[in-house]
Amino acid sequence: MRYQGLLHTYKSYLPVTERTPMLTLQEGNTPLVRAERLSEQLKLDIYFKYEGLNPTGSFKDRGMVMAVAKAMEEGSRTIMCASTGNTSAAAAAYAARGGLNCVVLIPNNNIALGKLAQAIIYGAKVIAIEGNFDRALEIVRDITSKHPITLVNSVNPYRIEGQKTAAFEVVDQLGHAPDYLAIPVGNAGNISAYWKGFKEYKEAGKSSSLPKMIGFEAEGSAAIVRGEPIPNPETVATAIRIGNPASWKTAVAAAQESNGFIDCVTDDEILHAYKTIASQEGIFAEPASAASIAGVIKKKKEGYFSDNQSVVCVLTGHGLKDPNIAIKSVAAEPLVVQDNEAAVMDAIAKLEQA
Ligand code: F0G
Repeated sequence: MRYQGLLHTYKSYLPVTERTPMLTLQEGNTPLVRAERLSEQLKLDIYFKYEGLNPTGSFKDRGMVMAVAKAMEEGSRTIMCASTGNTSAAAAAYAARGGLNCVVLIPNNNIALGKLAQAIIYGAKVIAIEGNFDRALEIVRDITSKHPITLVNSVNPYRIEGQKTAAFEVVDQLGHAPDYLAIPVGNAGNISAYWKGFKEYKEAGKSSSLPKMIGFEAEGSAAIVRGEPIPNPETVATAIRIGNPASWKTAVAAAQESNGFIDCVTDDEILHAYKTIASQEGIFAEPASAASIAGVIKKKKEGYFSDNQSVVCVLTGHGLKDPNIAIKSVAAEPLVVQDNEAAVMDAIAKLEQA
């Protein structure tokens, strides 16, 4: 039967009532792709949960479809969020689909080009503040507490409900829970959502074990790892440039309860992993997503894993979200040559020597 989206597929696990509109852009149902070369190199059984293939190109669609459907059910007319980009793209798309107004607050000059383009074209009111994500979220929380506007950041519990469905899919696709679930950590909602999902699916008898949750922040934004908020977070992975994660406590609980951990990776490690999976595996994910791979490579070097254990790495967003980083991170831009065969053959020879 035709796939009908998350609200339909996982109705019995979600706060879906008879009055909940069955909103969908066919989110979810994303591929679990085996990392053939990386698995061999690291002597692990590694899979990518390729969330970049959601309708707006990130995992945010899972939570947003649920949050926006509930906002509609409750009669809300306007939704609002702070965002490093992906949440705003998803909010704008589902608001358009559901006929709601959408206001997004983004950190000026610190969101990837593709994400900005999405929020604009879907018709959201886009406001860039001279401040970072953490400040934007504070402002959004203040405004939505005083006005009849629905907050759709992951502090809205419906977001977590929708996002937990990714854990269900991982179990169904693999046939069991993996030994490890490696995931980037920014505002810390997604690691909390996956853990909730794995636990609920086990309780429902769908899996016999639980994975260890291993989360990775970017070093310049690693508030949880350092144990204190970071006033001026920095990282090339703008999606996770967050200094005071809203779901801090539930993320730490997920790591502890599962016998996992939250660690951090440097920008160099992120960019290395980002290029490696694109050039070795044919998978293009945005830099923040590569934090999960970078983390697995780092932990392998530290001797953390046993051979052949299964690791699912969540690739949270599509590489096309951030074309500027892709172009900047390679040694050379395309060679420009004259439009004849000889010039092209010369160029190929030059590139082969390079
Ligand atoms: N990866 C990507 C591509 C993201 O966009 C985000 C968060 C994360 C990872 C981290 O997930 O916050 O649940 O720990 N992006 C948010 C946004 C903050 O506004 O789009 P998290």
